[in-house]
Amino acid sequence: MGIPANVFVFETPEQVSIAAAERLVNYEYAFHGEPDRFSLALAGGNTPRRVYELLATERFKHRVEWVKVDLFFGDERCVPPDHPESNYAMVYETLISQVPIPAKNVHRIIGEGRPEESARVYENQLRTFFAGMSWPRFDLVLLGMGVDGHTASLFPGSEALSENAKWVVATQPQGAEHDRITLTVPVFNHAAQVMFLVTGAGKAERLAQVLKAEPGRQPLPAQAIQPLDGSVEWLVDSAAASLL
Ligand code: 6PG
Repeated sequence: MGIPANVFVFETPEQVSIAAAERLVNYEYAFHGEPDRFSLALAGGNTPRRVYELLATERFKHRVEWVKVDLFFGDERCVPPDHPESNYAMVYETLISQVPIPAKNVHRIIGEGRPEESARVYENQLRTFFAGMSWPRFDLVLLGMGVDGHTASLFPGSEALSENAKWVVATQPQGAEHDRITLTVPVFNHAAQVMFLVTGAGKAERLAQVLKAEPGRQPLPAQAIQPLDGSVEWLVDSAAASLL
């Protein structure tokens, strides 16, 4: 099918992570000045872990003005913030605790409360931050993709996928151990920049399917992410790209 222009293939997962960290630092750098804030929504799961670790290394951490960065989460598992499955715990361990970001700039999703209530609380936080806007506009959103084509906690066949008013919803993915809280499709689609990170041979088939729109076929969640006035890029390793 050929490789679309917005898909960047790197030999190894480590190279994907380095490229993602480089881009992130460059975007953040480009935003200095006006407006004086950089809103970043992070992905959970395993793939971005190395990106967060890299951002906390000497090579990268001095290239970011952390005081200007506001960290948000694209989704969260409904577990306490110190639970091994918590996206916040992973980002705290790898990044937040390692860089001089002010605590007030870290906007976690409450995983330990009642899911619907926590979703409402997070939506209110976002509405306060993006005051007066009908949809939030993140400067950058990082996303991963599951082997089933899910992204954030938007799973195939889920009602959350068609949400077009709320910014944040609670969802119960079939077969998943924990409920989830996720930003909705229109939120991601109002971002200025979306960056998917996908690695591993296990995702090759799904990646090929996602990047090829098939008329008449119900889009997979990852296919629904198409910024209206922004761009999306895919940083993938050669194993994941092997069927493109
Ligand atoms: C999460 C995510 C989720 C993730 C994919 C890929 O909280 O799990 O945000 O959408 O990005 O499941 O996960 P891996 O990177 O672990 O394969």
